[in-house]
Amino acid sequence: MKLLSIILCLICFAILFSHCKNSVETNIKDLDQNMQDMSMYHDNLGIHLRKGDADYSSWLLEGMDSSLQVIATQFDRHRKLTTSFEKSYEKRLLPSIKIIRKALQENDFPAAIAGYRVLTKKCNGCHIDHDIDKEVKDLSDPIYNEEK
Ligand code: HEC
Repeated sequence: MKLLSIILCLICFAILFSHCKNSVETNIKDLDQNMQDMSMYHDNLGIHLRKGDADYSSWLLEGMDSSLQVIATQFDRHRKLTTSFEKSYEKRLLPSIKIIRKALQENDFPAAIAGYRVLTKKCNGCHIDHDIDKEVKDLSDPIYNEEK
C-alpha cells in the first residue's frame, strides 16, 4: 500500500513537471517583455535625437521598427488589446516612424524630433485606450539633459 502511494506520487510529480517544462519551452515572450525591448530603442532614440547623432538615431529607429514588426506578427490577439497589434502599428505608429526616417536621411533634426514627439504621443494614446498605466516619456525633451 505504502509503495503504491509513493509510486502514485512520483507519477503525479512527473506529470506536473513535464507540463511545467512544456509551457516554459513553448512560451514566447509576452507582450510586456516585447514592449520593454522596444521601449529601450524608443528612449535611446529620444536621447540621441537630442544629441543630434544621425547615424545612431537611424540605427535605433530601425531597431525599434523591426521589434515593432515582430510584435505585430506575434500579437494578432492579446488579452489586453482590442485589435491586432499590426493594425495599431500601421495606423498609429508607422506614419511618424516614416517621418523620422525621412528627416534623418535629410539630417533634419527639428523634423525628426517633431516626428518622435508624435510617435511618443501615439504610444501613450494606445496605453490610455487600453487602460495601461504606463507613460512613455519624450526623451528628446531638453529637460532630460541633466540626467544623462
Ligand atoms: C497597440 C497598442 C500599443 C501601442 C501602439 C504601444 N503599446 Fe506599449 N503597451 C501596450 C499594452 C497592451 C501593454 C501592457 C502589456 C502587458 O501588460 O502585457 C503595454 C505596455 C508597455 C510598457 C510596459 C511594459 C511592462 O513591463 O509592463 C512599456 C514600457 C511600453 N508599453 C512602451 C511602449 C512604447 C515605447 C510604445 C511606442 C513606441 C508603445 N508602448 C506602444 C499597448 C501598446
